[in-house]
Amino acid sequence: MAGDGALITFEGIDGAGKSTQLRLLARSLRAAGHDVVETREPGGSPGAEEIRRLLVEGAPGRWSGETETLLFTAARRDHLEKTIRPALAAGRIVLCDRFADSTRVYQGAARGDLRAVVDRLHAELIGVEPDLTFILDMDPAAALTRGLARRSGEDRFEELGAGFQSRLREGFRALAREFPARCQLIDAARPAAEIAAEIATHAEPVAAGAPA
Ligand code: TYD
Repeated sequence: MAGDGALITFEGIDGAGKSTQLRLLARSLRAAGHDVVETREPGGSPGAEEIRRLLVEGAPGRWSGETETLLFTAARRDHLEKTIRPALAAGRIVLCDRFADSTRVYQGAARGDLRAVVDRLHAELIGVEPDLTFILDMDPAAALTRGLARRSGEDRFEELGAGFQSRLREGFRALAREFPARCQLIDAARPAAEIAAEIATHAEPVAAGAPA
């Protein structure tokens, strides 16, 4: 995207290990001398963190897909204004745990058929794509066990069940085919260090200013 820094996002089903891999990449990019910002969605700015609480707590059926799409987009807009754009303008490398691809898959495909609405809102209000996206791919049964084991009080999405997680996995794999230039599909059912090494290989040139 425009700006001197780079935006690198991590995507995948719940429990696939995105947050761990984000931390490991942040560490290795910092060791190489980059100025790195670690952030997440929904959230990543004070206003967006407030919206996050509305989204991740409460009953699974609390919001319709349409309302969720609006709330995630509102959170993303604030995150973009307050955190992402200023960091990129300052030449920093932004590592973000989930971004617009999550809305495309969760709200756009897995929860219903809202992709056209998601795309229109994105074009109108966000209009930014990552320089590089890692899609962590793994068997939903294994990932679900890991996700629920964490029990954070933020389990509204995990509680939608195994069939839902399978649709998500398929949605993310389809997205990797849709945006091959920026998306790297990563086999996440391997030791963390092995995954981290593969991710660093892809990320280092992008952090240094090369296209993905
Ligand atoms: P996250 O904090 O990434 O949860 P986890 O660490 O368990 O993966 O995100 C919270 C939930 O919000 C997660 O289940 C995915 C969902 N989500 C969407 O449905 N749409 C979105 O646009 C985003 C960013 C997240």
